[in-house]
Amino acid sequence: MSDDSAGREQDLSRLLVEERVFQPPPDFAAGAVVADPSVYERAQADPEAFWAEMAEQLDWYEKWEEVLRWDPPHAEWFVGGKLNACYNCVDRHVHNGRRNQAAIIWEGEAGERRTLTYWDLYRETNKLANALKSLGVAKGDRVAIYMPMIPELPIAMLACARIGAIHSVIFGGFSSEALRDRILDAGAKMLITADGGYRRGQIIPLKHDADYALRETPSIEHVIIVERGRFPLRIVSGRDHWYHRLLQEAESYCEPEPMDAEDILYTLYTSGTTGQPKGIVHTTGGYMTGVLATLRWIFDLKDDDVYWCTADIGWVTGHSYIVYAPLAAGATMLMYEGAPDWPERDRFWQIVEEHGVTIFYTAPTAIRAFMKWGNQYPQAHDLSSLRLLGTVGEPINPEAWMWYYEHIGRERCPVVDTWWQTETGMILLTTLPGIDYMRPSYAGHPFPGVSAEVLNEAGEPAASGYLAITRPWPAMLRTIYNDPERYVEQYWTKWDKATYFTSDGAKREEDGYFGLLGRVDDVLNVSGHRIGTMEVESALVDHEAVAEAAVVGVADEVKGQAIAAFVTVKEGNEPTPELSEQLRSHVVDKIGAIARPQSVMFAGDLPKTRSGKIMRRLLRDIAQGQVLGDVTTLADASVVEELKRRYEEQEDG
Ligand code: PRX
Repeated sequence: MSDDSAGREQDLSRLLVEERVFQPPPDFAAGAVVADPSVYERAQADPEAFWAEMAEQLDWYEKWEEVLRWDPPHAEWFVGGKLNACYNCVDRHVHNGRRNQAAIIWEGEAGERRTLTYWDLYRETNKLANALKSLGVAKGDRVAIYMPMIPELPIAMLACARIGAIHSVIFGGFSSEALRDRILDAGAKMLITADGGYRRGQIIPLKHDADYALRETPSIEHVIIVERGRFPLRIVSGRDHWYHRLLQEAESYCEPEPMDAEDILYTLYTSGTTGQPKGIVHTTGGYMTGVLATLRWIFDLKDDDVYWCTADIGWVTGHSYIVYAPLAAGATMLMYEGAPDWPERDRFWQIVEEHGVTIFYTAPTAIRAFMKWGNQYPQAHDLSSLRLLGTVGEPINPEAWMWYYEHIGRERCPVVDTWWQTETGMILLTTLPGIDYMRPSYAGHPFPGVSAEVLNEAGEPAASGYLAITRPWPAMLRTIYNDPERYVEQYWTKWDKATYFTSDGAKREEDGYFGLLGRVDDVLNVSGHRIGTMEVESALVDHEAVAEAAVVGVADEVKGQAIAAFVTVKEGNEPTPELSEQLRSHVVDKIGAIARPQSVMFAGDLPKTRSGKIMRRLLRDIAQGQVLGDVTTLADASVVEELKRRYEEQEDG
């Protein structure tokens, strides 16, 4: 078969798959948490009443007076209500019969195991909360958390929530400079970290890295260090404290702080279209309501489930669907520290088999990697405990969806493709697994009580265009920390002040199903990680040899997108392979390994339009080795030829 006809055949099979729908397995549907399709109409008829009913699943110190106060684009949910997120995640389970149930089943990369019951979680969280207070942390103070995937990470978050401190978790894969910038923006008073963590058998020396950041973060008064592996480190006396020592001395009960529904629970930094990440602000009552309701209904959560979300808690998926929702639901969740291919490529399936995981939630990038590694790895394990699969973070291609459904779910498990963002806090588009059919590569439709549309530039409904959310939802971001104007500008000015602009392209089919088409802004999605092109460009131009840089995303079979950088050097610098390597490392130092460009391409000049805008589309085509499009708008067309020639040389060599 020629390459061409193989390609056509693939296209054809893609079309066939996209047109197929899969009904929920009858036995699953029969016992599903949501079995009655009328929920959609009921919620649609009165969304506020629907969300109020969902909020009743939480324990409140004081009930709200008003469900929603909406002064576009500013929303307040459950106005006047008082509650504590930690109480809802821990205390109430200790009092209502789940005291001895496993809350967290943890597996370290090297194979260690720990099980924390709700009682264990209660004791540790109370003690840590008291330790935080004894070190001067009070309600409203910001606490930065930079940790590996160990149980002390959710404990640290919950301890903050207990006393009303605002946590800001920084993914352990971010560099010390990225950590510093986030600490500075939040004005954090304390840092909670660990001596290190493990990833693919390597030690990640978190405290050692954090020390570089701490040189330039005057707001930090104290540092708490969890001893993960007896890794060598420097202790600054008076400032640095061992977690286990503090806990030995701490009182065993700390009264939870009654928080206003609109008090901030946490901030989480995410990438946008500028060089500076944004601190997304989530509050307490609406957020907890939204994540708990979506977890129970979308993941069909039951008391005997073992729920595993493979995300890192450093991202929003971990905040909402590893920590707050599962614990508020009183679930048993699995937490794994390390990589999926360590020591072998069957590590995840081994974990599923050994712990009897029933619900498994991961990202398309992982699914594509599993696909590439081969069927033999899942086949070698008994995966019959699984009953529901989920995916999040990127558009999932039909082939990956089918592979997941067939080889992991073995055609018995519904797959939920959940669309949401750091900003949305909770899942907004999905299917409900007991009542909705699945369409590979379509996320589904709005969760009950949520309204979404596909709009064109003019704000009119269209078959394809931009995804917009047309009604406020409880877990929505409330603002950007320290930047309220950017909040309005970024999300609520594309059409009118009451319509949220997601920055995602989408199409809508006749059956109402939404298909996601990727970001329409300068935000990349590399292995499900959100990275701004401007951030990478700022990191590159920060290097002394660089005059100008442009970064584009190119399609990658496994990662979804990979980063291609184009760089012009300053006079007196040679564009050598060594410099290219240096620049890639420089980006890692500035941001973290997730942002390392796959390629660095040197150019005499960058292709610009007459008005001076860098022609990213052209660069993308060049990086992807595609035929060049129309270049008549270029200021200097020879630049492109030059770029193309060098690119081809690099490819050849
Ligand atoms: O482009 C969408 C993509 O991920 C972006 C949000 O990234 P982040 O804030 O890091 O949160 C990721 C996890 C919630 C979105 O703008 N995205 C997320 N889920 C999906 C998706 N794209 C397609 N399908 C999804 N299910």
